[in-house]
Amino acid sequence: MPRAISLVRPDTTRYSAYIDCVTDFAGTSMDGSGIRDPQRPPIAPGDVTEFVTARIEEEDPATELPDGWVHCTSRWILDPETDEMLGFIAIRHRLTPYLLEQGGHIGYSVRPAARRQGIASAALELALVHAQELGMDPVLVTCDDDNHGSRRTIEKAGGQLEDIRDGKRRYWFGDGPRPRA
Ligand SMILES: CC(C)(COP(=O)(O)OP(=O)(O)OC[C@H]1O[C@@H](n2cnc3c(N)ncnc32)[C@H](O)[C@@H]1OP(=O)(O)O)[C@@H](O)C(=O)NCCC(=O)NCCS
Repeated sequence: MPRAISLVRPDTTRYSAYIDCVTDFAGTSMDGSGIRDPQRPPIAPGDVTEFVTARIEEEDPATELPDGWVHCTSRWILDPETDEMLGFIAIRHRLTPYLLEQGGHIGYSVRPAARRQGIASAALELALVHAQELGMDPVLVTCDDDNHGSRRTIEKAGGQLEDIRDGKRRYWFGDGPRPRA
C-alpha cells in the first residue's frame, strides 16, 4: 500500500520537521522546494522564516514578482500521522519560455529515506488536482531523460509525452491547447 501523504503550505511551526528533511537531502537537489542552492539551504531560524514567507507570498497572484518569475504554489509533503516531512512539490502557475522548454509547471522531490514508497506519485496526483483548481490546462511536467524514477512517476500519472528537448522529457496532462515555443 502506498504511504498516505498530505500537502501543506510551508509553515515555520514545522521548523524541526523541515530541518530533518533538508538534512536528509544532504546537499542533493531539492526540486520543487524553492531552495536555489541545495548545498546551502536555509537552516537558521531567521533564514527559514524569510524563505517560508517568500514561498507564501509568491503563491499570491497579487504579489509583484521580479521579471522572469512566475507565481508558484509551494507545498511540503507530510506524513499526516507522524507529521514527518517527506519532501517538496511546487506548482508554477504559468510557463515562461524556459519553463516551457525545460522546467515545466510542476517540480517535486522526495527525501532519500522516503523514496520508493509511492510518495512522489501521491504528491503529483494531489498537485494535478490543485493545478486543475487553479484553472491550469494543460499542465506540463518534465524530467531528465535518465531520471527513471521521475519518468515512471509521470507516466503512471498519465502524462502524455510530447518530445525530448535537450535531454528533458516533456509530458502533458489535460486536453487544453498546448503552448508552442
Ligand atoms: C524521482 C523521485 C521524486 C521519485 O520519488 P518516489 O517517492 O521514490 O517515487 P514513487 O515511490 O512514487 O515511485 C514512482 C514510480 O517510479 C519508480 N521508481 C522510483 N524511483 C525509481 C528509480 N530510482 N529507478 C526506477 N524506478 C523508480 C517506482 O518503482 C514507481 O513505479 P511502480 O509503481 O511501477 O513501482 C525521487 O527519487 C527524488 O526525489 N529524486 C531526486 C529529485 C528528482 O529527481 N525530482 C524530480 C525532478 S523531475
